[in-house]
Amino acid sequence: MITIRRNILVVNFLALIIFSGIAGAETGKTPDPGAVVLGKGLYEKHCQVCHQKDGVGETPIPWSIRKPGYFTAMPLNETSHAWHHTDEQLANMIFEGLRRTKRMPAFKEVISEKEVYDIVAYIKSLWSARIIACQGPQHMRCMQ
Ligand code: HEC
Repeated sequence: MITIRRNILVVNFLALIIFSGIAGAETGKTPDPGAVVLGKGLYEKHCQVCHQKDGVGETPIPWSIRKPGYFTAMPLNETSHAWHHTDEQLANMIFEGLRRTKRMPAFKEVISEKEVYDIVAYIKSLWSARIIACQGPQHMRCMQ
């Protein structure tokens, strides 16, 4: 009986995590203000060192003097292509890191899935309403 009750608790807890993750941000939708505040703190702690304040990205090092395989951290605001990705794709890149370069590390050992979605909410707060409306697969609509 106790085991069953504990299992129900675990299931409820997981549902809460998944629900709050989805509630924090949704592709094409304005992010939840509470998630943005939490995400900003996490961004400053874990991401700002490379992607810079307000997600403006690193100043690119010219190819001629850059070590082979060295990638600069691109902007995450709307000047680059972060908004071409869905919330899930962004969360996945942050959680798993990028295969293309080890400079973009995997954060799954460092932050929870809910926190990843809070960071996605913060990143989206750097985009205009027009860009948010065109987020993800429909991004070509905003390319003209
Ligand atoms: C040590 C430096 C470093 C840190 C810390 C870092 N990144 Fe990155 N990030 C990079 C680099 C380098 C790239 C890849 C650039 C490329 O592929 O040209 C990247 C790529 C990305 C991309 C893909 C963007 C796109 O448009 O495809 C996202 C999203 C991203 N980072 C988010 C984050 C978030 C969120 C954090 C903090 C949790 C973070 N990064 C921390 C260096 C970093």
